[in-house]
Amino acid sequence: MTLDLTPNLDPFALARALSGKHFYDGAFQAGRSGKTFPVNNPATGAEIGTAPFGDEADVNAAVAAAKAAQKGWAKLPARQRGKLVAECGRVLVNHVEELGRLIALETGKALRTESRVEAGVLADMFTFFGGLGSELKGETVPFHPDMMTMTVREPVGVVAAIIPWNVPLLLMAMKAAAALVAGNSVVVKSAEESPLTVLRVTQIMNSVLPAGVFNILSGFGPECGAPLVAHPDVKKVSFTGSVETGRIVYKAAAEKLIPVTLELGGKSPMIVCADADTDKALAGAIAGMRFTRQGQSCTAASRIFVHEDIHDAFVAALKAKVDAMVMGDPLDEKTDIGTIISGGQFDRVQSYIALGRETAGATELACSSMPTDPKLAKGLFVQPRIFTGVTNNDRIAREEIFGPVCCVIKWKDFDSVIEQANDSEYGLAATIWTRDLKTAMDATRRLEAGFVQVNQNLVVQPNLSYGGVKTSGLGREASLESMLEHFTHKKTIIINMA
Ligand code: NAI
Ligand code: MG
Repeated sequence: MTLDLTPNLDPFALARALSGKHFYDGAFQAGRSGKTFPVNNPATGAEIGTAPFGDEADVNAAVAAAKAAQKGWAKLPARQRGKLVAECGRVLVNHVEELGRLIALETGKALRTESRVEAGVLADMFTFFGGLGSELKGETVPFHPDMMTMTVREPVGVVAAIIPWNVPLLLMAMKAAAALVAGNSVVVKSAEESPLTVLRVTQIMNSVLPAGVFNILSGFGPECGAPLVAHPDVKKVSFTGSVETGRIVYKAAAEKLIPVTLELGGKSPMIVCADADTDKALAGAIAGMRFTRQGQSCTAASRIFVHEDIHDAFVAALKAKVDAMVMGDPLDEKTDIGTIISGGQFDRVQSYIALGRETAGATELACSSMPTDPKLAKGLFVQPRIFTGVTNNDRIAREEIFGPVCCVIKWKDFDSVIEQANDSEYGLAATIWTRDLKTAMDATRRLEAGFVQVNQNLVVQPNLSYGGVKTSGLGREASLESMLEHFTHKKTIIINMA
């Protein structure tokens, strides 16, 4: 099959056609070393394609292309740049079904509940940021009557965007759309588990953008991500992934004294009060814990604190809801819950389930049921687990699992539950469920998190700043303010007219 821009709804054919390629300088490119690695379908274990094993030579070529293109891109009138970014969104809308199917195949996330939805929000991110071109404003400052004093916003140059596998389209778009509209060029390093759909997105975007402005490399962290961060012409790094790798990236960027945005993990609390609307809170727990994404979310509401008066009924109802969810082939419209991304993550999740079983006082509730289709026998399916009888001090309630495993913790005293919610190395998201306004306001002030919600559990929105405190990260993404703060430099100019 040729790789034209006609939407292709056969993800298997598309995965094969996209195999073995980076995309930079306006074209698909083979890896310089010729080395590739397999991309697998986690629902069957079968190889669906390959990706180039990017290394320093590929990084050098992609960054050179990005550097050459950036100056011309930055010189475009800001609204014109914005129009092109918004046009990427418009074109991507035509590919929602195609991209949804491919990301479902590549990551094991169910098409109906997750993958198609993610492909839709991808386009929305470009549409939103595309409108912000003329918002790259500076200020005039009343410094001296004889001196015209002002600030202007300038792009930082070539931006490196390092993304993970859990929501690669959304996370790539959040970085790319903001960086591009601000006048930067971008080199993305895709996650080794999911290099194909983001490659297709890059091809589609390059039908709109000038060559070299938006580029992508596939490869592993140490061999491809590290040289990208270290490259002297990369002037900013935006990273989403683990705390461990975030620290490595931060140190490498410190050597070059360049700014970094880090979006790392979480162990987000959800506090359910006795007076809560329990139907809403139950739906919120299902959405918040991302059961449809196998819990593979940085904001997963993985610590659910439920007031003792309603605890037992809440747990029973939560289990019943998860039991009703269908695990199966990610591409099947009936499926609610697909697979874990990779063998490594599968083993990690299993080890936490084993740890939960060994936790004193804990009770394990296995929910839903394993698929019976023999084609899926080698699939990385894990039955969602709810652990009750856990305390906030147990390892299972402290460490990020990044799988379909949540802890329900009983509480009685409000001050103590706030304290427990905050007793975590993380601080990404938090929710509180109550009908009492004073309790809600009190909690929003006291909860240590970058994103606090009352009686709802919305995901990332393009126009709201998003990011964490403590080890959950550094800096904010999405929103006009984040774009200005993280993808531009402020220059002060004084014109002495005396
Ligand atoms: P990771 O943080 O190692 O990988 C994320 C990205 O960083 C990938 O593109 C990877 O290739 C790249 N990378 C790895 N080492 C690098 C280096 N030295 N320099 C530059 N880039 C590098 O995460 P991984 O191994 O996929 O997952 C491990 C755990 O991380 C998960 O179990 C989960 O707890 C957490 N995680 C959190 C995410 C979030 O959204 N905050 C997303 C993915 C994972
Ligand atoms: Mg890793």
